[in-house]
Amino acid sequence: MSLYRNAIWFLNGIHHYTRKGYEAAAKDFDKDLDVSVVGRSFMITGANSGIGRATAMAIAKKGGTVHMVCRNKDKAEEARADIVNVSGNTEVYVHIVDMSETRKVWEFAEAFKKQYPSLNVLINNAGCMVHKREVNAERLEKNFATNTMGVYVLTQTLIPLLQKSRDPRVITVSSGGMLVQKLRVNDLQSETGCFDGVMVYAQNKRQQVVLTQQWAKAYPVIHFSVMHPGWVDTPAVSTSMPQFHQMMGDRLRSVEQGADTIVWLALSRAAVSHFPSSWLHSDITILSHNLTQSSQTLPPLSLSKFQCLIYLLHHTLLNH
Ligand SMILES: NC(=O)c1ccc[n+]([C@@H]2O[C@H](COP(=O)([O-])OP(=O)(O)OC[C@H]3O[C@@H](n4cnc5c(N)ncnc54)[C@H](OP(=O)(O)O)[C@@H]3O)[C@@H](O)[C@H]2O)c1
Repeated sequence: MSLYRNAIWFLNGIHHYTRKGYEAAAKDFDKDLDVSVVGRSFMITGANSGIGRATAMAIAKKGGTVHMVCRNKDKAEEARADIVNVSGNTEVYVHIVDMSETRKVWEFAEAFKKQYPSLNVLINNAGCMVHKREVNAERLEKNFATNTMGVYVLTQTLIPLLQKSRDPRVITVSSGGMLVQKLRVNDLQSETGCFDGVMVYAQNKRQQVVLTQQWAKAYPVIHFSVMHPGWVDTPAVSTSMPQFHQMMGDRLRSVEQGADTIVWLALSRAAVSHFPSSWLHSDITILSHNLTQSSQTLPPLSLSKFQCLIYLLHHTLLNH
């Protein structure tokens, strides 16, 4: 990442991604959230904490059926109890899945597809930034396994169920951090050079944007979107980026502010009727996929190579 690109990104973030940025943008919000979602089902990964939990709470308050996909049973049950208690909605279910374990994600999605007749909205929210190179049971690097492969396998496996459900949507929580990365396809497992967890995370978030564009083309029945929540005060930020967390302090957004655009993408009619599938959103509007003009020229070969590599990984690891 160039210093120039980094500096533009940070200045842009100070203006737009902070609490003040949210408050300025919110003056123009027309949320179109006067909808009933009783009977519609929503799967949210990482729903026990931060932005995912605030999203689950908002959807439960609207009457939707919520499937919380979490890795830690105690944390998940505590969050579920709070959501049920505050919302008065008992249609909230916990599923224990570690999104970094590729085969387990696939097994879960296959079982879910058999057990439930429909899924209206999938929200890929769980994410991580691991600073030391670790691998999962399939020997995939942990950030890639969670942020890219977990999202890919869960979404891809649930697509047939989404396709037969009414008004299906897939929302992936990416990050503005992806704007500092072009898609790189030569070292998906970060095996060469010095391991930099922040850059690997940003690369994974770029990959989520690319996957969303590819899915949108391949499955026109489903409305796909990807979003940036802004800079939000959550455990992920305080533990993975402690200096940034301390420096930003009160300027970070609340979890409800971070969840706002996800909830809008999941519930509103306008998100589907006014915005085509595949777009990148923040603060109830769209963001450019790129930071500067120069970053817009991505060789088409990289895109098709990425698509092939992910497809191959999926099929060889899961042996089907
Ligand atoms: N906060 C920000 O400023 C910011 C900015 C841009 C993008 N994002 C994105 O927003 C999303 C939500 O993060 P957050 O900021 O709300 O952080 P958070 O409060 O720490 O929530 C992250 C959630 O993901 C779950 N998770 C992580 N790895 C998992 C795994 N292997 N299997 C299952 N669940 C897993 C966590 O579970 P545990 O509680 O068990 O750890 C937690 O529920 C992430 O995708 C993140 O990249 C956040």
